[in-house]
Amino acid sequence: MLVSAKEMLDKAKAGHYAVGQFNINNLEWTKAILLTAEETKSPVILGVSEGAGKYMCGFKTVAAMVKAMDESLGITVPVALHLDHGTYEGTKACIEAGFTSVMFDGSSYEIDENVAKTTELVKLAHDNGISIEAEVGAIGGEEDGVIGKGECADPDECKRIADLGIDMLAAGIGNIHGVYPDNWEGLSFDTLDAIQQKTGTMPLVLHGGTGIPDDMIKKAIDLGVSKINVNTECQLVFAEETRKYIEAGKDKQGKGFDPRKLLAPGVEAIKAKVKEKIELFGSNGKA
Ligand code: 13P
Repeated sequence: MLVSAKEMLDKAKAGHYAVGQFNINNLEWTKAILLTAEETKSPVILGVSEGAGKYMCGFKTVAAMVKAMDESLGITVPVALHLDHGTYEGTKACIEAGFTSVMFDGSSYEIDENVAKTTELVKLAHDNGISIEAEVGAIGGEEDGVIGKGECADPDECKRIADLGIDMLAAGIGNIHGVYPDNWEGLSFDTLDAIQQKTGTMPLVLHGGTGIPDDMIKKAIDLGVSKINVNTECQLVFAEETRKYIEAGKDKQGKGFDPRKLLAPGVEAIKAKVKEKIELFGSNGKA
């Protein structure tokens, strides 16, 4: 069932667990995540970056594919189709295309401009019955060519943005997209605590979920994180299993070159990874 992310995140915040956002890249990714959410009876958020949207032939194609797949697979758990790190134009395009949730990432603007643009997009999203995430303080690492510094957000700025009527807030707490470097200092729980105190019941979003140790994930959830984004980790396990299949020469045995066979180990690896994360985040059985 395709729904806005608001209700599932408000429930997660109240119930002290987090809903996973898993980014999709193609049909296989989408199917693997939907089936795993159904199997674990967990709500789920399908994240689409602007780059992945372009790769999949545009937001309208993505929305049509996800809607049809959700129906054809008989998915009963709540599923939000969410734009990840949207630009101002991209956010508008996804609202138009039929996404059920969007993120406007205004973190690269000065705070006043972030506030002005977020305010406008909150109204547009809510007029269309969909949820909206906003961001304060850039998240480090590289995502679709955008490089952030991994800074920590200012809790007062977080409050300003949270008060605009958004449904979820992404705030930098030292997290980074992609694999964490060996010298990473870990999440700043002091920052997270201060943000949570200022923003109350607002569901907080932790980007850069790949490679954050389990104990830090659990502590972040205790301190008010209700949505955790995972992207790179699914890509890594998919690539690893596909490489093993080819290196073992399985594509040369019988009809092992058939994409339905060749991609199957990678797809199974995504399912296992998504299941592991859903259980870690505690959203299993919460649909
Ligand atoms: P990772 O690729 O580090 O898991 O981050 C995903 C993310 O935050 C998407 O917005």
